Amino acid sequence: MAPPPNPWTGRHGRLCAVGQELRHRMKVATRVVPLPANSGPFRAVAPQDAPLLALLMERAYRGTVDDEGETPEQCLEEVRALIAGKYGRFLDDASFLIERDGRPISASLVTLWEGQPLLAFSMTVPDERRKGHAGFLIRRSIDALASRGHRDLHLVVTDGNPAERLYAKLGFVRTPEAPARAAEGCAR
Ligand SMILES: CC(C)(COP(=O)(O)OP(=O)(O)OC[C@H]1O[C@@H](n2cnc3c(N)ncnc32)[C@H](O)[C@@H]1OP(=O)(O)O)[C@@H](O)C(=O)NCCC(=O)NCCS
Repeated sequence: MAPPPNPWTGRHGRLCAVGQELRHRMKVATRVVPLPANSGPFRAVAPQDAPLLALLMERAYRGTVDDEGETPEQCLEEVRALIAGKYGRFLDDASFLIERDGRPISASLVTLWEGQPLLAFSMTVPDERRKGHAGFLIRRSIDALASRGHRDLHLVVTDGNPAERLYAKLGFVRTPEAPARAAEGCAR
C-alpha cells in the first residue's frame, strides 16, 4: 500500500514542495475572533463545493511559486481528495468560502493532520487579492477551531510566497522544527 501523503515532507501533490525548494512550518494559537460588524457573506464549505473550489484553486495558484501547471481536472481531483481525507479528516466546520454570484472568491480549507489542525489551502482569485479576504477567512477558521477546543492551527509555506507576510500578520510563527526539504521524487 502506498504511504499516506505527508504535508510536511513527502510526496503529496499540491502541498508538496517544488524540487529543492525550502518550505517551513508555521503555527498560531487559536483564539476567539469576534466577527467584524462589516463582514460580508461567507459560509462553511460543503462537499458539493468541490467544483467551485477547484476553479478557485486553478486560478489562485496559476503563476505562483507553488504552480504545478495542473489542469482543471487535476484541481477537481485534488479538492475531492482533500475533502475525502487525503490530508486527514476535512474539517468542514472550520473551512470557509466566499462566493459572489456563483463565482468563487476566496477559501480557507482546514484538515486534521495527525491530530493537529492544518491549514491545507488558503487561496484568493487574483483580481480580489489584497482586500483582506484570505485574512478574514483564516481568522474565521482560527475562531471555529478555538470554539471546538483545538489549541493550534498549523500550515506549511514555501519560502518566498508572499502569503508568509499575511500569516505573520495573523500571528503565525515558525515552529522550531528544522525546515523540511522536499522528499526525493516529489511530483513537482
Ligand atoms: C496568499 C493569498 C491567499 C492571500 O490572499 P488575499 O485575499 O490577497 O489576502 P489578504 O488580502 O487577506 O492579505 C493580504 C496580505 O498578505 C500579504 N500579501 C499577500 N500577497 C502579497 C504580495 N503579492 N506582495 C506582498 N504582500 C502580500 C500582505 O501582507 C497583504 O497585506 P496588505 O495588502 O495590507 O499589504 C493569495 O495571494 C493567493 O491565493 N495566493 C496563491 C495561493 C497561495 O500561494 N496560497 C498560500 C499557500 S501557503
